[in-house]
Amino acid sequence: MDNNLLLEMREIDKRFSGVHALDSVDFSVRKGEILALMGENGAGKSTLIKVLTGLYRKDGGQIIFDGTERNFHTPQDSQRAGISTIYQEINLIPHLSVAENIFIGQEPRNAFGIDWDSVNKQARQLLLDNGIDIDVTQDLASYSTAVQQMVAITRAISQNAKLLIMDEPTSSLADDEVQVMFSKMRELVAKGMSIIFISHKLDEVFTICDRTTILKDGKLVGSYDIDKITKLEMVSKMIGRDASNVLKRTVGVYEEKPGTIPLVHTKNIDNRVTLHGVSIDIRPGEIVGIAGLLGAGKSEYAKVLFGCDNTYTGTFEVEGKPVRLKSPKGAIDLGFAYCSEDRKVEGIFPHMTITENMTITALPRISKFGVVDSKKQKAIVDKYIESIRIKTPSSEQLISNLSGGNQQKVLLGRWLSMNPRLIILDEPTRGIDVGAKAEIEALIREFSQNGISVLYISSELEELIRNCYRIVVIRDGQNSVELTDQDITEENIMKYIAKNAKETEVDHG
Ligand SMILES: Nc1ncnc2c1ncn2[C@@H]1O[C@H](COP(=O)(O)OP(=O)(O)OP(=O)(O)O)[C@@H](O)[C@H]1O
Ligand SMILES: [Mg+2]
Repeated sequence: MDNNLLLEMREIDKRFSGVHALDSVDFSVRKGEILALMGENGAGKSTLIKVLTGLYRKDGGQIIFDGTERNFHTPQDSQRAGISTIYQEINLIPHLSVAENIFIGQEPRNAFGIDWDSVNKQARQLLLDNGIDIDVTQDLASYSTAVQQMVAITRAISQNAKLLIMDEPTSSLADDEVQVMFSKMRELVAKGMSIIFISHKLDEVFTICDRTTILKDGKLVGSYDIDKITKLEMVSKMIGRDASNVLKRTVGVYEEKPGTIPLVHTKNIDNRVTLHGVSIDIRPGEIVGIAGLLGAGKSEYAKVLFGCDNTYTGTFEVEGKPVRLKSPKGAIDLGFAYCSEDRKVEGIFPHMTITENMTITALPRISKFGVVDSKKQKAIVDKYIESIRIKTPSSEQLISNLSGGNQQKVLLGRWLSMNPRLIILDEPTRGIDVGAKAEIEALIREFSQNGISVLYISSELEELIRNCYRIVVIRDGQNSVELTDQDITEENIMKYIAKNAKETEVDHG
């Protein structure tokens, strides 16, 4: 074996019923490199990782790690051998404290057993090093997905492994947290560690990775040095066709019909905790984006609109009439739909099929006397499986057997199939590959053309810029600026997004 290689996987094969998830895949990682493992949703990335770490048993092939052929039977096996993994599904324990989660199985001990003082102190310090200042004695579940993700990263980093695997670690993180993580990663590889990095955010991959290996439909496409491949080439290899059309800005100018009143009019929404004066109007058929840092109040504003937060003051009108929503039911009755950012908590029923998960909100519409019209149900499900390309052998597959991105698509299908008047999308394409992202975005624009309003929340500026007629930037729970048409540029948004935007403005004159 080449001395430079830390890991070599040869002719790896893995089948699930109906799916050939890995088809004789060769894969290797060099010492001290950051390797991007790329591919569309369902390409086999997470499966390759799970076969490596012993979470899944392989059907064929050979794994050589650190000079020896290995067959890890459990994730603990591979961890002991020096592989530290952040799985795509955060694999922490929600009802243990943050500190316990970081040190599980490796707690510092003293003469009396586990040294809790030391556990808490060390956990706190490790998190502080990653820019996270929280009470580590609280249950993990009490924190946002982003914080949980940082905890998972901190735990993995603290294990001093030879190989660190990160399967979409940044999907919930804001830019500054990603930057902290990147500088950690650079420190680690400088010490000789290798990292496998999986992400659908191309910018990240091009910033931090040395090399990339691309999979498609369970097969190896090839491996390339990052500085010898362009974004466009990478995406084209991932989707197996020319990607020039996939990455363009497509939205035009919003044409307001005279005399129309906004569907939603909000002014000075304030809940005294996270919102301190947000004012946004959404007109019929308009796609309005909200940009802002993590914690700026984006999702909190969405929750007010959907009746999840009844503590606010301020004006909230729908078609000119004041409303006061006491619960999401009231919002649904108004024809609002809400695809929340936290799909694990609020969205997925893991023990149900794709069909059941997708049509759960549509049931009243497609049932008669309590009996579901299965023809209508099938038509809805088939339509979305096709139009947003959900990769599955059948609509009767359990949702938990789908790849992460495809689970997200099922949820999106659920809300889209409701035919709402307003659809609130909070990070709708998180974890979704570029090709499918383009399809989802096209679908959203189609909705807008049919008069449906969209509130689009995303931490990916490119995505907002591509799709929104108008973008409201919020900062610290307040409107920072509202941009339209040609003023919608990344530079402009960045200028108003940051905490020190006021200073920046002064600097400019
Ligand atoms: N436990 C399972 N049972 C059945 N099929 C599975 C299982 N796990 C994965 N698959 C299938 O294997 C294929 C590869 O899935 P995998 O999760 O590896 O994709 P991925 O590249 O990680 O995608 P994503 O970007 O969406 O996370 C998919 O078709 C998926 O549906
Ligand atoms: Mg995956």
